[in-house]
Amino acid sequence: MATVSSTAPLERVPNSAIDAVRLEHVTKSYRRGEHVEQVLRGVDLSVARGECVYLLGPSGCGKTTLLSIIGCVLRPDSGKVELFGTEVGGLAEAERSALRRSTIGFVFQRFHLLRGLTAEENVMLPLILAGVSRRAARRQARRLLELVGLEGRADQDPRLMSVGQCQRVAIARALACDPPLLLADEPTASLDAQTGAKVMRLLRELAKTRQHTVIVVTHDRRILEYADRVFELEAGRLVEASTAA
Ligand SMILES: Nc1ncnc2c1ncn2[C@@H]1O[C@H](COP(=O)(O)OP(=O)(O)OP(=O)(O)O)[C@@H](O)[C@H]1O
Ligand SMILES: [Mg+2]
Repeated sequence: MATVSSTAPLERVPNSAIDAVRLEHVTKSYRRGEHVEQVLRGVDLSVARGECVYLLGPSGCGKTTLLSIIGCVLRPDSGKVELFGTEVGGLAEAERSALRRSTIGFVFQRFHLLRGLTAEENVMLPLILAGVSRRAARRQARRLLELVGLEGRADQDPRLMSVGQCQRVAIARALACDPPLLLADEPTASLDAQTGAKVMRLLRELAKTRQHTVIVVTHDRRILEYADRVFELEAGRLVEASTAA
């Protein structure tokens, strides 16, 4: 697996003093018929640029819900969400989408790779949508697939790949547009220890060399050494764990 090559410095988010993410008393509940499940009960969180923050918690406690709110995929019931100093709640839908596209890479827990496209085409897609030429998009996709250890598999259909390989295509796609904020939902769930460690080292290297912010949801305690801070989601609130490892 190759290492990160230095590319142009990040210019989309010029003021490094502003936190990448600020959450204030975020709440979220789901209604199923008569039943209301209060999942988030007042989440507060500030994450600086260049920081790697990991979120832990038992299955069903609301980690994906929280990551989706940070990623502008879901709206909270109440509370404030700020990304790079912009309050997301005050934006119209089109502005939210634009913010999402320009600043966020999301590794979904279930990958959401597009059927009928090769691994390389999946990674190229966000670049093409951002107006990058096919030629440049292909070059970037190949570089990223190599970074996650999938060199030689660019033309493969993800349906014919192992789950761990699909997971790495999803990670490469999330990195395609060089997002200043990377949100990864259990990115090592299907990876062996060695490959998982390599991928998490790559994400940490991106954070530290390019001041990118990385928020990882995980059950995998083996990768906590790559975190600057670790939080547990407990009873709908985030509690900082005393040490990262
Ligand atoms: N769209 C939805 N409608 C109704 N309930 C939902 C919805 N999405 C999530 N939930 C419920 O909210 C709770 C939190 O779900 P979430 O997916 O955020 O948990 P999680 O911490 O990511 O779990 P896991 O570790 O298993 O991925 C669960 O009890 C789930 O059933
Ligand atoms: Mg989840």
